[in-house]
Amino acid sequence: MANRRDFLKAVPAAAGAAALIMQGVPGRALGMSDLAVDPDGNYLLQALPYDYAALEPHIDEQTMRLHHGKHHLGYVNGLNNALGKLKEAREKKDYSLIKHYSREAAFHGSGHLLHALFWQNMSPNGGGEPQGELAQALAKGFISFADFRDQFTAAAIQVEGSGWAVLVYEPVGQKLVVLQAEKHQNLTQWGAVPLLVVDVWEHAYYLKYQNRRGDFVKAFFNVINWSDVAQRFAKAKSEL
Ligand SMILES: [Fe+2]
Repeated sequence: MANRRDFLKAVPAAAGAAALIMQGVPGRALGMSDLAVDPDGNYLLQALPYDYAALEPHIDEQTMRLHHGKHHLGYVNGLNNALGKLKEAREKKDYSLIKHYSREAAFHGSGHLLHALFWQNMSPNGGGEPQGELAQALAKGFISFADFRDQFTAAAIQVEGSGWAVLVYEPVGQKLVVLQAEKHQNLTQWGAVPLLVVDVWEHAYYLKYQNRRGDFVKAFFNVINWSDVAQRFAKAKSEL
């Protein structure tokens, strides 16, 4: 495939393991669970599942080269850097920059996961309308495919800032929902599966702990249902 050589030319030599490239497996669509990491756990930029020019005339080759080879690579490198800094913080037991590097991990992590999904969401043979169960679910949730397309389009056009329109499956209500992500880091790493959460809005602890949020978090560890978390972990690993 000519695109592999082109790809290697397009991606600048970046420092560290993130410069390594996971080559696409010919003939196989990569799923989110196939997102590549090296043996040390560093994320890698995967090759596109098609040529840079393959989506012409709808999306031009130059845009694809820059978007994937520069912008997406930046997210991969930023994510690895943030995770490295968080590792250092754990080793040094110095969490003075936790806010900064948590934000960096969310910003670059969301960027990486969303772009990886975005590339796979497109195909030179794409377009038309979905079939089968997805078509039925969209018709049920949005009146018709055309209504879904209108809402998704409006969400995408009107989202503010560096945003995304996102079709999600909400598993509790078992619904398909269209969301806007204005700043993708605000919803942390899109594509990641939550296993354990703690609500630290003041309403969660203020009556008892007032401004002592740390005491509340400490107390929370006394009530965590680890078998629930373990079940969620096993389910996420087996299903994604
Ligand atoms: Fe982008």
